[in-house]
Amino acid sequence: MTTQPAPAIQVCGLQKSYKELRVLRGVDLEVARGSIFALLGSNGAGKTTAVRILSTLLRADAGTVRVNGFDVATQAADVRESISLTGQFAAVDEILTGRENLVLVARLRHLKNPGEIADDLLERFSLTDAGGRRAATYSGGMRRRLDIAMSLIGDPPVIFLDEPTTGLDPQARIEVWQAVRELADRGTTVLLTTQYLDEAEQLADRIAILHEGRIVVNGTLAELRKLLPPATVEYVEKQPTLEDVFLALVGTKG
Ligand SMILES: Nc1ncnc2c1ncn2[C@@H]1O[C@H](COP(=O)(O)OP(=O)(O)O)[C@@H](O)[C@H]1O
Ligand SMILES: [Mg+2]
Repeated sequence: MTTQPAPAIQVCGLQKSYKELRVLRGVDLEVARGSIFALLGSNGAGKTTAVRILSTLLRADAGTVRVNGFDVATQAADVRESISLTGQFAAVDEILTGRENLVLVARLRHLKNPGEIADDLLERFSLTDAGGRRAATYSGGMRRRLDIAMSLIGDPPVIFLDEPTTGLDPQARIEVWQAVRELADRGTTVLLTTQYLDEAEQLADRIAILHEGRIVVNGTLAELRKLLPPATVEYVEKQPTLEDVFLALVGTKG
């Protein structure tokens, strides 16, 4: 008998309505430990709602959610200790330097060596040179990287990134992608939401498309591509892009 390690995230039959608006109508998904999972959906699809339930900020109407083995409904404190959440809007204090922001969070978490932790994270996110500057002077990408670094203090095994690159310029997006890849390389499980097909394509081990309250497909990029007719040969061979798959399943964007 082989024992599979339990998935980092298990969602089963998740439902959530706001009054008559049925946002999540039975969502099922699993995220393997140490993997990057992209929840892809148009604006208003319910991505933030799902992330808020998974991170114990919002109660589900029905269904079960386990994160790091803990039930979000009955073991919320254990879930909170297992996760970090970075929202769409950076929680960085602009008056403080990058390093001071990190030290502050480490102190709030009662960790022993806040300075050491800060320096290590600055290094990991290529912010060492900028560490002594006020965060107000940072570019969008630097700020978002600092935000992600802050959310890693205390080494949570699972991290939720809700639209980590929305509003960033292309260079800044690439910087954030590198930071996310680095997280997964270290064994952190990452669930990110995005409206950007290329982001899912670039980063994710698995991609799930949330549409009209349900997961309409869930697989690797290669599996998603197989949903469309095989590549056609014209002058060059053209593989269906994730965009082709998305549009075929969801219809027109936005
Ligand atoms: N607190 C709320 N009260 C009422 N409706 C909400 C609330 N939060 C979100 N909604 C609605 O639920 C739907 C899904 O929202 P959301 O989860 O934020 O989607 P996404 O993050 O995919 O853009 C949207 O139609 C949104 O307007
Ligand atoms: Mg959202």
